[in-house]
Amino acid sequence: MRIDERMERPLTQHIRPGETNSLADYQKNGGYEGLKAALKMTPKEVQEVVKKAGLRGRGGAGFPTGLKWSFVPIGDDAPRPKYLIANGDEMEPGTFKDRLLLEGDPHQLIEGMIISAYAIQAEIGYIFLRWAYKKAAQTISKALAEAYEAGLLGKNILGSGFDFDLYLHTSAGRYICGEETALINSLEGKRANPRAKPPFPQTSGLFGKPSIVNNIETLCNVPHILRNGSDWYKSISISEDGGTKIYGVSGKVKNPGLWELPLGVTMREVLEEKAGGMRDGLKFKGLLPGGASTDFLVEEHLEIKLDYKGVEQAGSRLGTGTMIVLDDQTCVVGMVHNLEQFFAQESCGWCTPCRDGLPWTRNILWAIENGQGKMEDLELLESLTQTLSPGNSFCALAPGAMEPLQSALKYFREDFERHIKEKRCPWRS
Ligand code: NAI
Repeated sequence: MRIDERMERPLTQHIRPGETNSLADYQKNGGYEGLKAALKMTPKEVQEVVKKAGLRGRGGAGFPTGLKWSFVPIGDDAPRPKYLIANGDEMEPGTFKDRLLLEGDPHQLIEGMIISAYAIQAEIGYIFLRWAYKKAAQTISKALAEAYEAGLLGKNILGSGFDFDLYLHTSAGRYICGEETALINSLEGKRANPRAKPPFPQTSGLFGKPSIVNNIETLCNVPHILRNGSDWYKSISISEDGGTKIYGVSGKVKNPGLWELPLGVTMREVLEEKAGGMRDGLKFKGLLPGGASTDFLVEEHLEIKLDYKGVEQAGSRLGTGTMIVLDDQTCVVGMVHNLEQFFAQESCGWCTPCRDGLPWTRNILWAIENGQGKMEDLELLESLTQTLSPGNSFCALAPGAMEPLQSALKYFREDFERHIKEKRCPWRS
């Protein structure tokens, strides 16, 4: 198969199903060599290597990582302490890629965090972990103890004079905690409401101090970039951005799962060569490319490149790169209703459009799904997707929630109309 011939898998090649790599396992495979290389450079040089590598955030928004770091003040007069936070609050529906990294190779994350902290000269780090990831909490705790014992964390790391303390924080369990400013409020012990941006956390974050929040997969890329260089990192991608991506597929395909592949493979390659295509008797109808808060793509998009630009040009977003597949025997109205139920429940309630708009959307979808919808409801749903669009709410939760709905109304409108005309769900027997 074409995609296997050119594949390098730096993040996952040493992960063994069901097992966790110890410090010794990690070091046997070149672990902490990236840190040694980084400590020989200045913090700004480390930032430049990561910038040149073309690493973009893997949590969903795709912001360039080196550029984000460069907003943190690092001179002698910079406010202190500074913080580095790993966002491991992976709650985007259909998304389970960070869990693999946390459970399988925790030192890769720790090394990535030490290097990233050095690049921004942060003294304190937190791993903010989804409450349900119990095994990951154990693997991270054990790995942190090993790293302290080996002098990789704490004072004077590897004799470099750089100090960095790293703590595990297990979240209380809300989707909104994954939004970086809500996460910061939660870490401060406050209610997890998002804050207004600007100021961005890079200048005023945790306890008002400069802070960086990076996704787990993003941070796990950093050791490999420092060990092998930015040219290598660009060379393993087939996209204008660098590196690999952990893609995932869930839904009624033959072989759901996760695969680390060069950034920029096509949707068809992942779906057919890796996920094995649809289960017998089912037809592909569409998919959400990057978790639930992205727009549906359909058959005509199968050849697009799964990179930031390719998916955006098709009218959606790469998001987390974990696809949720819709088949022809699943009711799309029921699926979208289920998603809006999730988003309505997870709204923090801070701003009115999100607090009231999402339950309203969910109720209309419930009525349509249960044979009580009216044709005017479709116009109302369209208008709600406008009311809850970016800029009208405090954070990205409500606009993200509108993405599957607005694209379902575009591509599968007939399905909505059939429910209304037949006064029942045609997919239910
Ligand atoms: P965003 O685009 O506002 O920000 C992304 C990052 O770039 C942030 O760290 C932000 O500080 C930085 N940034 C953006 N503009 C900047 C500027 N002008 N100056 C300095 N820094 C700037 O996106 P947001 O709201 O942080 O994230 C939304 C994304 O999160 C969605 O795309 C969604 O797919 C994803 N998501 C992922 C989840 C998961 O479980 N992985 C859960 C929920 C959402």
